[in-house]
Amino acid sequence: MKIGRITISDRASAGIYADRSGPEIEAVLREILGAEADFVSAIVPDEVALITAKLREFADAARCDLVVTTGGTGISPRDVTPEATRAVLEKELPGFGEAMRMASLAKVKTAILSRATAGTRGRSLIVNLPGKPSAVRECLEIIAPAIREGVAHLRGEDPHAPAGQPSTTKF
Ligand code: MTE
Repeated sequence: MKIGRITISDRASAGIYADRSGPEIEAVLREILGAEADFVSAIVPDEVALITAKLREFADAARCDLVVTTGGTGISPRDVTPEATRAVLEKELPGFGEAMRMASLAKVKTAILSRATAGTRGRSLIVNLPGKPSAVRECLEIIAPAIREGVAHLRGEDPHAPAGQPSTTKF
């Protein structure tokens, strides 16, 4: 699986602090998906034009199966990740954000301050996560089964095919 990870933060992109959330995406997905992941990464400031350009690049040119963003999902004046994401999506998947907020709310009462969304562009699944490294892990663990299944659907594979069977059966 080819995965793009994008850290969206004015301060991390300016080098004011180190990006811990982007590497956390990679660490958690490697744990969940095993060794089959090949990553490309970027850090961009909270600017719609720069976010949409990087999402398009990772989905269209780099042909990532999955693009995961972290940061910019809240309500601060500079938070524009969901707007930038919606601008490039072909099909929105609101259930990803709903599930992350609902499951996270049980232990983090501020979880509902995230407006994270998800959806598809071509054969790429794009998912927003909140910016904190702990939130990256909490949220990815909640949506991992849907990521695995969603990527298989976009590839035209049957994720339920028995091992050893051709996995290119169209649904
Ligand atoms: N979700 C989880 N699972 N864990 C968290 O710590 N933090 C919340 C929320 N979602 C949090 C979370 C907080 S405090 C904010 S402000 C929003 O995510 C938005 O974060 P962002 O703007 O960095 O994306």
